[in-house]
Amino acid sequence: MNFADSEVVASILGESGFEKTDNINLADLILVNTCSIRDNAEQRVWGRLDLFRSLKRKRPSLIIGVLGCMAERLKEQLLESDKKIDLVVGPDAYRDLPSLVNAAGEGHKGVNVLLSREETYADISPVRMDTNGVSAFISIMRGCNNMCAYCVVPYTRGAERSRDPHSIVKEAKDIFNHGYREVTLLGQNVDSYLWKDSETKAISFANLLSMVADISPLLRVRFSTNHPKDLSDDLLYVMTQYNNICKHIHLPVQSGSSSVLQRMNRKYDREWYLDRVKRIRQIIPDCTLSTDIITGFCGETETEHNDTISLLKEAGFDFAYMFKYSERPNTRAARHFKDDVPEDVKTSRLNEIINIQNHLSAVSKKNEIGKSFEVLTEGVAKKAISGPTMTGRTSGNKVVVFEATDVKPGDYVIVTIEKATSATMTGRISNQ
Ligand code: 5AD
Ligand code: SF4
Repeated sequence: MNFADSEVVASILGESGFEKTDNINLADLILVNTCSIRDNAEQRVWGRLDLFRSLKRKRPSLIIGVLGCMAERLKEQLLESDKKIDLVVGPDAYRDLPSLVNAAGEGHKGVNVLLSREETYADISPVRMDTNGVSAFISIMRGCNNMCAYCVVPYTRGAERSRDPHSIVKEAKDIFNHGYREVTLLGQNVDSYLWKDSETKAISFANLLSMVADISPLLRVRFSTNHPKDLSDDLLYVMTQYNNICKHIHLPVQSGSSSVLQRMNRKYDREWYLDRVKRIRQIIPDCTLSTDIITGFCGETETEHNDTISLLKEAGFDFAYMFKYSERPNTRAARHFKDDVPEDVKTSRLNEIINIQNHLSAVSKKNEIGKSFEVLTEGVAKKAISGPTMTGRTSGNKVVVFEATDVKPGDYVIVTIEKATSATMTGRISNQ
């Protein structure tokens, strides 16, 4: 989401005559787009700000700005932090950047952390950055109304709002015409995407997905993130109707224990989640599934932790992002519960689930040996097999490395999987 937002910022500043440089020593303005989701994300930003401060000592005219969730969370406090920060701009205030930067150039520090109920940056064409020319992100909504107890996002990104579907389709068409072959539609909870205006009938996420998939069978469509409480069968059926809608669902479970899920305010329990998994498997048998897990949430007992382990095994995720609970100031959990699982217990529980998931991820890749997949080529592989080697992804989002001579990024090839390690699958092109 921050990556997509930085592309919006680059576009807004580009319109005002700014240009991006890859050489930090040439920059007149440095903006750091920040994440507050866990304390270690914020610590990385503080480290980065130390570096920028040392640059500013040598070049006092340099302007330094903090954007995104940390800006929203800490507001004016950031200006008092002795990091030589000139600008603090929250996620809904990026249109104000050109005037804030100009004022900073004249020595006036600026803060704009107003959250909006309408801003979706729908009319702004993001400037693609650090791109492989094949895959791009498109933000389809902003904010979140869910109030999961541990989560800072509703406070830093504000209330949920959906973006005009026509602007989304236009952006997807534009990038397809520029040679891109994959878009990922982004939202904190894509299942609650809803657009209503006087002319169009209400457009749900399932409707939006088919509108984007209709652009071209050569444009792959991905999306993230789904919420288990809202994932509908309608969406699953739409996925089956299009070959170019990727068969992968990222469905964060957070915990396998119903009592923890209740404390987290996730609004579903273990049985509901496993039932959703069952429906996915029934309706889209070849769909891959990934998840997020938080370990060591307030009051998590050994039994509750073991429920997460058993759920991991039962659901058989292809991939998982796993985190230690990190208390975020002013969230519901910080206000109502004690962060009482000792750090060493959080660490050992995290290591335990990582080991189990690593094994499951390796099994998921080994199971593909002998099968053939349509792979969208993304670029040259870091390590060659023997001859020229390319890398790409299956519809299920599994990375495949294969030898190829006449294949370019953006090309589709059929690859038969021959080998799999816990990290990658290796295959051979079978349509050449
Ligand atoms: N501590 C640890 N992990 C968190 N996440 C969100 N908030 C926290 C927190 N306070 C994780 C959730 C979410 C993912 C994006 O980050 O698993 O799905
Ligand atoms: Fe945070 Fe929950 Fe919203 Fe995801 S759905 S952004 S975890 S509040």
